[in-house]
Amino acid sequence: MWRLLFGLLLGGAALRVVAALLLLRDGWDFAGPRLVFVVPALVVIAAGYGVWVRPMLRSPAGEGRVAAWPGDYWAAMVAAGVVLVASAAQLVGTGGAAVTGVGVLGIAAVGSVWRRARWCRRSAGRWWRTAAKGALGAALAAAVLVGWSTASQLPARSSMTGSPVDTGGSTIGHAHHGGISVTTLTGTDTAGVPARRFTLTAQAATVELDSGQRVEAWTFNGVTPGPQLRVRQGDLVEVTLVNQLPGVGVTLHWHGVDVPNAMDGVAGVTQDAVPPGGRFVYRFRATQVGTYWYHSHEMSSVQVRRGLFGALVVLPADAPEQSDAVDETVLRHTWIDEDGVASLGVTTGAQRRQVPAGRQVRLRLVNTDGNPATFTLTGAPLRVVAIDGTDVHEPNVLHGVRILVGGGSRYDLAFTMPDQPVVLRADGPTIVYSPDGNAGPGRESPAPALLDPARYGTPAATPFGAASHVDRRFTLRVDERLGFYDGRPAVRYTLNNRSFPDVPMLMVAPGDLVEVTYVNRSGQHHPMHLHGHHMLVLSRDGRPTSGSPWWVDTLDVGPGETYRVAFRADNPGIWMDHCHNLEHAANGMILHLGYAGITTPFQTGHGTANHPE
Ligand code: C2O
Ligand code: CU
Repeated sequence: MWRLLFGLLLGGAALRVVAALLLLRDGWDFAGPRLVFVVPALVVIAAGYGVWVRPMLRSPAGEGRVAAWPGDYWAAMVAAGVVLVASAAQLVGTGGAAVTGVGVLGIAAVGSVWRRARWCRRSAGRWWRTAAKGALGAALAAAVLVGWSTASQLPARSSMTGSPVDTGGSTIGHAHHGGISVTTLTGTDTAGVPARRFTLTAQAATVELDSGQRVEAWTFNGVTPGPQLRVRQGDLVEVTLVNQLPGVGVTLHWHGVDVPNAMDGVAGVTQDAVPPGGRFVYRFRATQVGTYWYHSHEMSSVQVRRGLFGALVVLPADAPEQSDAVDETVLRHTWIDEDGVASLGVTTGAQRRQVPAGRQVRLRLVNTDGNPATFTLTGAPLRVVAIDGTDVHEPNVLHGVRILVGGGSRYDLAFTMPDQPVVLRADGPTIVYSPDGNAGPGRESPAPALLDPARYGTPAATPFGAASHVDRRFTLRVDERLGFYDGRPAVRYTLNNRSFPDVPMLMVAPGDLVEVTYVNRSGQHHPMHLHGHHMLVLSRDGRPTSGSPWWVDTLDVGPGETYRVAFRADNPGIWMDHCHNLEHAANGMILHLGYAGITTPFQTGHGTANHPE
């Protein structure tokens, strides 16, 4: 039995070493942590076998007759515990590993003492002795879990002001001093009479999907997706948020729009959640043309799923008032009550649209979910004209396209309507455009080639690039681990081994050129969304991007991928930077970008009304 146990342990550890060595091809970031944990584990197992199991098996008295340490049953527990902790360390993370280690050592110590106790020797072989041993083991394991869970509890209140910081390898003065509050960062050109005024009232409503299913939704103005806000570049926009939801707060965040910090809508960071019955007025100038969306940033993992989102489109200042071009926003959403039923708006099946041949069509694809969604368009030559609101430079014509749209991202497609049907599929729901409006989706044609945004379009000048002098560099290593988060068992998502609110804030000074490397060591996609800034993607897995400049506000980092991005720190404030798989965010995958000298009076946590995740 011991031989088997150790054989399994050794085999498992050896496999992990091999896996880690294979990962070396992807770089030390991927292989390093695994090697660091598993190599000592391998040594411990091998030593345990050599020092203890082998002599025991060879002793004439045989198994179970070796009395003195280290030939002790409990010494094996220690060895196994060390191995467990070491190889689980990547999974459980800080806190968890320590508690587990202490727990295992505790079990070993108690066991050792027990084994030496007189009464215990006398009772050898009795059934109740085995039972008591089992009960003790279970009690200790439970104590470990309770301790671990308690250690993971989050503070009742935490503030980004005073939180630990990371200055990206170059010094920065007085990170938390200076006392400019985020509330004063309302923008310099936001006075005057707004060109566009909207009111969005958060309210509960029952929404019926085309399938007949009813969803108890949270909506803006009774509809979900919420009203589409269409404005023009240069417009001063004013949106009044009114909260009529029963018992929950709400905010509005302008996803992808680099608004002044005070207007960013993050509960507990840039404002307090708007309580039931309350209101909040947002004002910003629409400076960037493109496709954006808005959503609540209070309990966002729940509220966005339940329907508190809508599209925001900024048209060029000179866009014609009247036009017969088709300009449609396609929001893909998975309903919370529907066990993962994907829809476009509230339609889960096929929609038909009549579009006369020769019309210009622009489709603005928005993925409101956390997981990437595959959109395919077939039936017409098309161009991908914008990504995350930024125009693609000289996009080449594609004959059908398949796009992996990451969570929170937007892709705009443009084509001239041909005299045959054009089919848009979105991992389930479809829209069919045809001259007579009657065509069905038909058979699924062979999937067109997958768009690679890193290689699409034509290079153009950028304000900075891979060769520019960088003021600060940060690396964010992304992992997933089994463990506890805020007292509950959870898959925790960590950034540099920490979860919100313990991830150090990335500190910058105004004007800095900041480079961030995202390293995804987990098995999932993480759409990393930086508020208030647009990031230029420099490279993926070490290969420089080569198409049109690829600007993003939400970058889907796939399993095993490494992206290097850069942005100019030109929008002072405290900005969330998080995974837009909002369940991941709710399980810790949030950090902040802070500017030196900016503080926030707001707090998050159980003790407050603010739960931005
Ligand atoms: Cu779309 Cu922090 O959010
Ligand atoms: Cu994620």
